[in-house]
Amino acid sequence: MTAQLIDGNALAKKIRAEVAGRTQALRARGIVPALSIILVGEDPASQVYTRHKVNDSTETGLQATLERYPDSMTEAELLARIDTLNEDPAVHGILVQLPLPRHMNAHKVIETISPSKDVDGFHVASAGALMVGQPGFWPCTPYGCMKMLEDIGYDLKGRHAVVIGRSNIVGKPMALMLLQKNATVTICHSATQDLKSLTLQADVIVAAVGKRNVLTADMVKPGAVVIDVGMNRNDEGKLCGDVDFDAVKNVAGWITPVPGGVGPMTRAMLLVNTLHAAEALSVER
Ligand code: GUN
Repeated sequence: MTAQLIDGNALAKKIRAEVAGRTQALRARGIVPALSIILVGEDPASQVYTRHKVNDSTETGLQATLERYPDSMTEAELLARIDTLNEDPAVHGILVQLPLPRHMNAHKVIETISPSKDVDGFHVASAGALMVGQPGFWPCTPYGCMKMLEDIGYDLKGRHAVVIGRSNIVGKPMALMLLQKNATVTICHSATQDLKSLTLQADVIVAAVGKRNVLTADMVKPGAVVIDVGMNRNDEGKLCGDVDFDAVKNVAGWITPVPGGVGPMTRAMLLVNTLHAAEALSVER
């Protein structure tokens, strides 16, 4: 292996310790950073994810509440609940776990969350703030990727970053964050022609497609930084990313593993956003 590993578990641990310290300082002033998580329905993966989010929060000293509602909840009921949480001064962050049941309009639901409590960074106001470089919540996954690049001391200025994937949650905000650090950014997607010719030019590659082996060793310039956002299962049922890790690690300069790379960082950045939400509100008082 030539590539250096970017250890998401270790960095997330460091970030959680920082959040814990700042949370303690807020608590000393009588402010308890609080996250409300809403889960509608019985999606098994969502149940696991939300449980992790609650555990991460409480272990860090944040207060997290998981509200569970049945599939039969109406959209109007959910919007009313979000309105109540928006108005509650003791709640700093609101997260509605996705996917929502099919009878609900996820966009409408997200837009109902107050932008000042949008710790997922999914609201159009958060996306707009990122686009114009104004303060706002950044979506946790690309935010975590940026922290990893910062941690290895990588200067993005003038570098060519190729983002594979154009989702609103990862690909698009990732590209904007890289651009903000003065990288030259290319966004690739399912209609991109000759992906390999583009990735071979990249100093940084972020793979965020949700498909195994999207990035193979022949597509990577020697020494490039490779960040793998994918979460897939291989034929043996083992967790794997979008990158052919075993081969790409012999070409890349830096690489994130799956598991233990971007995943823990995504979880850590939710805590950071929630802390920021509480700190921002505490300043306003
Ligand atoms: N479902 C899968 N990932 C996420 C996430 O980061 N936030 C929310 N709200 N739902 C998700």
